[in-house]
Amino acid sequence: MIHSLRRRDWIGRIRLALTLFGLPYTVCTPGARPAISCSYSHNFRTSQTLGPISTSFCNLYTTGVQTMPSSSAPHFKSRCPQYPGSKINRFLVPDDKVGWSQNWPQYKPLSYTDPLVEKKPVWADPEIGSFSPKFNTVDGAVDRTSFEGSYKMEKQKPLNPRGRTGVTGRGLLGRWGPNHAADPIVTRWKVDAKGGKTLHSVSKRPVLQFVSIKRKDCGEWAVPGGMVDAGEQVSITLQREFSEEALNSLVITPSEKAKISDRISKLFKSPGFQVYKGYVDDPRNTDNAWMETVAVNFHDDSGNSVSELPLQAGDDAGEVQWVDVDSSFPLYASHSHFLELVAKERKAHW
Ligand code: BGC
Repeated sequence: MIHSLRRRDWIGRIRLALTLFGLPYTVCTPGARPAISCSYSHNFRTSQTLGPISTSFCNLYTTGVQTMPSSSAPHFKSRCPQYPGSKINRFLVPDDKVGWSQNWPQYKPLSYTDPLVEKKPVWADPEIGSFSPKFNTVDGAVDRTSFEGSYKMEKQKPLNPRGRTGVTGRGLLGRWGPNHAADPIVTRWKVDAKGGKTLHSVSKRPVLQFVSIKRKDCGEWAVPGGMVDAGEQVSITLQREFSEEALNSLVITPSEKAKISDRISKLFKSPGFQVYKGYVDDPRNTDNAWMETVAVNFHDDSGNSVSELPLQAGDDAGEVQWVDVDSSFPLYASHSHFLELVAKERKAHW
């Protein structure tokens, strides 16, 4: 743990130094960590899942608040030099040229849309020109509104509200404009043999545990989240993704399903704590397509609800387990930031 904390500190210093010198910090630093460790595929349901894509991407900042830039800070995973799952190099965008308000005539990004997206699966839009989507509104079953407010259009295509990414088109994303995901964060208190809350030896705060899955596509630990299907309510996506990935609901017998469904429905109907709602700095983002998510925390305070259910990995998840909430545990995309917010809200160890 000490090693990883020092390493993060070191990365942070380099990043700060580069920023002070006015250099972009999107360049991977070999050796800083498995810099290129995660391959990407869509996180859609089994029938829609693509085979694992081996091309890697810059993955320096998987943990901590750095992964979730505020609207004033420039996104950086979205400017990662090589587009995931491809050999496409992004046009390098320095921090001061991210905003669309910066005039930059030299900006000539390549257009890239993954061949599988071009095959028009149900979860993807057709090419602009061959259909007439209604942007910035709920367009039939597809929600094309952004949590970031109204986004601008250029040449009939939506513009990424956080600015330039160095590539146009949709890349691996199905929708033009916002692509909506939902992340259920299911927590309980870590308890000792007598049922008392375990306090962390350093922070002296109670330790939370959350249900974490190991993603099959990149091998990183994550919250069991996924894409919101067309016409689906986010509350349904949260419960569905949790059931599919952490309880293997797509495969278990009807009697097993009946056993879990009561507890699950009860927990997911309880007023969850909305941890985050907005843009995600995701390496799949392009100038015309980007990820947004809603992360909600459902807490089993007494420890006798979902805590007692047998976890079983399914769908996009290779493994599942309860994991202690702790800042040193590296997580996929912005998930570490979400857990930090949960820990703060519940006055738990971080
Ligand atoms: C994942 C979510 C994640 C989102 C943004 C989705 O594919 O399933 O867990 O938050 O992408 O990175």
